[in-house]
Amino acid sequence: MSKAKTVFQCQSCGYSSPKWLGKCPDCGAWNSFSEERQSPKSLKSIVDGNSGPIPLSSVTGGNEKRVPVGIAELDRVLGGGLVKGAVILIGGDPGIGKSTIILQAISSIASLTGTVLYVSGEESPEQIKLRAERLSINSDKILLLPETVVEQILSVADKLKPAAIVVDSIQTVYTEELTSAPGSVGQIRESAAKMMFYAKRSGTPVFLIGHVTKEGAIAGPRVLEHLVDTVLYFEGDRGHPFRILRTVKNRFGSTNEIGVFEMTDSGLREISNPSELFLSERPLNTSGSTVIASIEGTRPVLVELQALVSPTTFGMPRRTSMGIDFNRLNLLIAVLEKKGGIHLGGMDVFINIVGGLKIVEPAADLGIIAAIVSSFRELPLDPQTFVFGEVGLSGEVRAVARGEARIKEAAKVGFKRAIVPAGNAERLKDNFGLTITGVRNIDEAIEHIGI
Ligand code: TYD
Ligand code: MG
Repeated sequence: MSKAKTVFQCQSCGYSSPKWLGKCPDCGAWNSFSEERQSPKSLKSIVDGNSGPIPLSSVTGGNEKRVPVGIAELDRVLGGGLVKGAVILIGGDPGIGKSTIILQAISSIASLTGTVLYVSGEESPEQIKLRAERLSINSDKILLLPETVVEQILSVADKLKPAAIVVDSIQTVYTEELTSAPGSVGQIRESAAKMMFYAKRSGTPVFLIGHVTKEGAIAGPRVLEHLVDTVLYFEGDRGHPFRILRTVKNRFGSTNEIGVFEMTDSGLREISNPSELFLSERPLNTSGSTVIASIEGTRPVLVELQALVSPTTFGMPRRTSMGIDFNRLNLLIAVLEKKGGIHLGGMDVFINIVGGLKIVEPAADLGIIAAIVSSFRELPLDPQTFVFGEVGLSGEVRAVARGEARIKEAAKVGFKRAIVPAGNAERLKDNFGLTITGVRNIDEAIEHIGI
């Protein structure tokens, strides 16, 4: 083995440099570099054993066998269940519910598949027991291991041969091979790599839990994203009970899939019909509220979008967006000014997606425009109308993918009218009992919406 080499690594993004730097050239963090001793054998190829090329035609598989976890919303984001030897990273803010969902998941795995090893470096077995009581979980197939040295974890796992392993959290475990502190980038990577070797060698699925940290001393799960097979982020606003589990990477399934949960007094409850949930507290006949039909992963979801437009009282007008991209909001405001003749120069504009959902697809554009105009003119939208469509820089409304699926979902929830891009309206084979109006630009849209 060649000599271990010293490198300096940014603790917030993982950028490494041969010398110490005051400011990270990659993420811009100050004073974030610390020394890491890298052992040269780390992060070697995880493809086991054999060498030499093999003809593509002789490779079999492609449809890995999946073992369902037994929680439908979790299986959905995993792409249908657990694949042999998969390493799954579940990231999220502290307190969002990562330990809760994983305990519910392993309880299901323990009853369906077999023994699960739950390694906790964060909580004592008593604390985990308290949570389990709250969730009414009790099983002798869930084995708790309070341990933080990765070599010890692996030796227990080797003897036990569990059906799955959970490491809560990856930031607390460390390898004795490195001298740096637990929680540093080097330690997190190396420990995760060791868990990964184990998963691939033994075929055991491994869940790694990671806290997303604000810029700070401890490295976040982002440094592991390239290493693991599947990355799930647990999102949500602590003030709201809704939690969304989102796939951001999946070697065994589609990305951008979501699972929706509600945090209750006795754990996370699955929400199989998110549209109803997101619309449950919608105020009717108030200005600034629209319903948009969005596609999250493969499923259509109806959500309420709110805008508040009010005169600026001091200095520069403010624009604030929660749940949609800030630059997209500015762009749409500019289009409204220039092409729609609506002057928002002296107005503050606030946008919010209700329920803490984040929408990145441009199909939300027309909804944002409608909400802003509705608030600006103080004219409410018809509560049985919903919209979707992308808005271009010349104010044109462009067709979006999966128009029919969006309309079908809205029909299910009881909507009666849709304002959609003309391109989508022309291609529809069925109107699902709704009155559908196709529009070509924002002027037409505003006219048909009646605001
Ligand atoms: P936890 O799973 O410990 O979060 P994480 O592991 O991501 O840090 O959950 C934390 C919060 O969830 C905590 O504030 C309490 C709340 N909670 C409930 O509301 N209901 C429950 O049944 C449980 C177990 C937790
Ligand atoms: Mg936890």
